[in-house]
Parts: sequence; structure tokens; C-alpha cells
Amino acid sequence: MSSNNTRTAIVTGASKGLGAGIAKALAGSGAAVVVNYREDAAGAERVVADIAAKGGRAIAVRSDVTRGDDVRELFDRAREEYGPVDVLVNNAAVVTFAPLSHITEEEFQREMNTNLLGPILTTQALAAQDDIDAASIINISTAGTLTHPSYASLYVASKSAVNAFTIVAAKELGPRGIRVNAIMPGPSDTEGSRAMGFPGSAQEAQAIADTPLGRTGTPEDYGPLVAFLASDDARWITGDVILASGGMR
Ligand SMILES: NC(=O)c1ccc[n+]([C@@H]2O[C@H](COP(=O)([O-])OP(=O)(O)OC[C@H]3O[C@@H](n4cnc5c(N)ncnc54)[C@H](OP(=O)(O)O)[C@@H]3O)[C@@H](O)[C@H]2O)c1
Repeated sequence: MSSNNTRTAIVTGASKGLGAGIAKALAGSGAAVVVNYREDAAGAERVVADIAAKGGRAIAVRSDVTRGDDVRELFDRAREEYGPVDVLVNNAAVVTFAPLSHITEEEFQREMNTNLLGPILTTQALAAQDDIDAASIINISTAGTLTHPSYASLYVASKSAVNAFTIVAAKELGPRGIRVNAIMPGPSDTEGSRAMGFPGSAQEAQAIADTPLGRTGTPEDYGPLVAFLASDDARWITGDVILASGGMR
């Protein structure tokens, strides 16, 4: 596999969970990694320390992906430290499982702004760089866009929009050598899913029963796939939305 030696990667929401696993895998493949977070500075610094302990390069940068000014500062900081950004992983997201009657206008805006506007703002910032001749964007979607779990209408709608955005953006940015793909993880053990009471729940038991490989995912399961999509080995893959769920569909 070709290396990511010359790459500068931003991973949004990498202070914990799948983003942390993805940041470590990208650093392990040679990329310099910007570990983005919104509130959890300590978590982001732990990820940076783990990467440094293995000889990798990383910095932690606070930025709220729902805010255009923050996103521009995130890219400025990344470029200042490591040069042009040519790998972007849109991982930051918020999730609620709730009945339709619980969806307020405020919750709609919080979820859509984080899960959809965030990736749009970061993709714009990557594309605004006029000194890159190739780049790879990987959007983290969910297998829920195929399985359509109950009480996840807003979350699944936001991620289905991410899948569509991925395919359309790939068409627009392809002529500039910017590839755009998404992956659809299955239910996984993360700080976020723990906070929602997923481990040990009836939903977790059902998810395992519905997964041919017989378990839930871990942050380590997704890093190698993202590192592959970020590398030149994936040079002919764009506009794809790839299921990575132990076979759950
Ligand atoms: N876990 C699962 O079962 C599962 C399954 C399928 C897909 N996914 C997808 O995988 C991704 C990661 O999920 P996870 O479970 O690892 O999440 P998590 O443990 O809840 O972590 C979420 C991360 O997103 C960051 N974040 C939230 N809002 C942000 C904002 N406005 N700006 C910047 N960062 C923000 C958080 O930062 P701070 O904590 O620093 O605020 C944190 O680093 C998400 O896209 C999710 O939809 C997860």
C-alpha cells in the first residue's frame, strides 16, 4: 500500500470515538493529522499524545464545524503547521434517538448543522485551497441509512443527505483531482454510544444478532478503510458510499 507520507489530514470530532481511531490510523500511515474537537480538549490531547508516542505527527485544534469562521481558522492552523490540507475526514456528528414528537426546531438545527452543514463548510474550505492538485475527502455516514432504525428519523435523514452530498460533490470536485467518498459504519462502541446507553441494551443485542460477523464495531475497525480511501491506492474510487458494518444491512 502506498503511504500517506506527504499528506496533511484533518479529522473532525477526533477527541474520542471513531474519529480518534481514524486519526490514529491516518497518523500510523504517515499523514500529519489535525485532531479537531469542539469541547473535549483533554480527549484530543490524549489522541495527540498516543500518536506522538508512536512517532507520528499530530496537533489538536478546537473548532466548531457548524461555524464558517471556526472552520476557516481550522484550515489556516492546519496549513500553518503542516501545509495544504489534502485529506479531510468529516466525522463530527451528533445523534439523538427520539420519537418524531420530540424533534424541535432547535434540535433539527443542531443535528443538521453538525451532521450536514459541517461537512459542507469543511469541503468548501478544502476546495478553496488553490495549491492542491489532489485530495481525498471521507465522510462518515451510518449503516442506518440502509437499515432505517426506528426513532432515528432526524439522524438518518441527516446522514442520508451526507450520502447524497458525497455523490454530488464528487462530480463537482473530480475534475480537480479531489475524491469524495463516504463510509457507513455499523453500531459501534464509542463514548457517544455509551452515553446513549447502547452497551448491554436490547438494541445492542439486536444489532449483534443482525450482524453476520457477530459483534458491534470498534474505533479500530474503521481506521484502515479510511487510510486506504485517503491513499493513492484508492485513486480510482470517488463518489462511493461504502458499507463497513460487519455485514449488517
Ligand atoms: N458509534 C456508532 O455506533 C456509530 C455508528 C454509525 C456511524 N457513526 C458515526 O461515526 C461518527 C463518530 O461517532 P462516535 O460515536 O464516535 O461519536 P462520539 O463518541 O459522540 O464523538 C463525537 C465527536 O464529534 C465531536 N463534535 C460534535 N459536535 C461537533 C462540532 N460542532 N464541531 C466539532 N466537533 C464536534 C465531539 O467533540 P467534543 O467531544 O470535543 O465536543 C466528538 O469528538 C459520527 O459521524 C457518527 O454519526 C457512529
